[in-house]
Amino acid sequence: MAEDPPAEDRARSAGAAPGVSPDGELPEGLREAFEHLGRLRFDQFMELALYAPATGFFAVHGGAGRRTGDFMTSPEVGPTFGAVLARHLDELWRRLDRPSPFTVIEGGAGRGALAIAVAAAAPECAPALHWVLVERSAALRDRQGEHLELTGLVGLPEPGGLGAGSPEEGGGPWFTSLAAMPEPSGASITGAVVANELLDNIPTRLLARTATTWQEVMVALGDDGRLREELSEVPPVVAEAFDEVAPAAVQDARAPWQPGAAKWVVDAIDLVERGEVLVFDYADTTASMAARPQDQWLRTYRSHQRGSSPLESAGRQDITVEVALDQLPEPDEVCSQAAWLAANGLDELVARAARRWEERAGVGDLAAMRARSVSTEAAALTDESGLGAFKVLRWAVGPAST
Ligand SMILES: C[S@@+](CC[C@H](N)C(=O)[O-])C[C@H]1O[C@@H](n2cnc3c(N)ncnc32)[C@H](O)[C@@H]1O
Repeated sequence: MAEDPPAEDRARSAGAAPGVSPDGELPEGLREAFEHLGRLRFDQFMELALYAPATGFFAVHGGAGRRTGDFMTSPEVGPTFGAVLARHLDELWRRLDRPSPFTVIEGGAGRGALAIAVAAAAPECAPALHWVLVERSAALRDRQGEHLELTGLVGLPEPGGLGAGSPEEGGGPWFTSLAAMPEPSGASITGAVVANELLDNIPTRLLARTATTWQEVMVALGDDGRLREELSEVPPVVAEAFDEVAPAAVQDARAPWQPGAAKWVVDAIDLVERGEVLVFDYADTTASMAARPQDQWLRTYRSHQRGSSPLESAGRQDITVEVALDQLPEPDEVCSQAAWLAANGLDELVARAARRWEERAGVGDLAAMRARSVSTEAAALTDESGLGAFKVLRWAVGPAST
């Protein structure tokens, strides 16, 4: 009997059919990089394949979404995920003594679906809420204004003082769109930094176990115009560290090395004076990934299907990697998404929606339809073989944050 596909395949794609054939042509930015550098580390290759300004997957067309997107994420399932996050943020806001502004920086905000859902849930903290959407794709930033009134930083303090004041006390929520995270040295906020499925898109380095040591996977352009892997030595200290974290790794095992994701978390924690960093993503340990085939934890997607090898169709498919938990700063809390949603009031939202559906089913209006979809969304968000198995990582910062 065929094994079920891994949980994350069913979550991020809707159908999982591997094997998109190579498109042949190497995008301009990558071709130039190979001409200049000869070969690239895997993270340098992934950076250009996803984010090169004119040709990268996210720069040109890629993104989350049910109808037009390439993969499905929790905020794109519907507004219920954001409604639960709104409850969680209200609780944090009350614990922090109702600060104004209450700043939430969202890393990898995409087209803004999470911000839209949190605002629609009308949380108690809304009048104090300053939501900063950080998205590096200009194409996706352009879409954020379709449903959100973006204030930019007009009337607000410069990024160095993001959390220091608001144009009109109590007049929120305000939404600001940025291309990059504020400098941790320049801004400190009272509130939260949140990210859903961001860390898995931060370019990863790749290591391969040989008979004797770990080496780094490089990407080179062959004479036939196709990309191929080559191995390169790493400093002994790196090889020793990976032998320590994945001592059972056999010859030809692969492991991700994720200094970029770790730096993002360290910087996010530095941005917060009082509050928390909250991350939702698929995650595993380095040792566990080293024991699994690489294509299970380094995956590609496009048009809701599993894509081909990451070295094929560069720029035309998403490349995503499971997050190595043990390479990040140690979180204060780790749980599954299903458990986190339950702890933050999902069941109450579902019960309330069921009552509304009973009242309005006869009318059959938009409110009735919306109420009915809550239980369907809840099932998708908590499915232990899909999104429900994602990890929620929380770092508490400063007094009253726990
Ligand atoms: C998988 S999508 C998730 C989008 C959205 N959070 C969601 O759940 O639907 C990851 C997004 O993160 C963005 N991204 C990746 N690295 C980033 C960074 N360092 N700063 C800001 N955005 C980034 C990508 O452009 C992409 O839109």
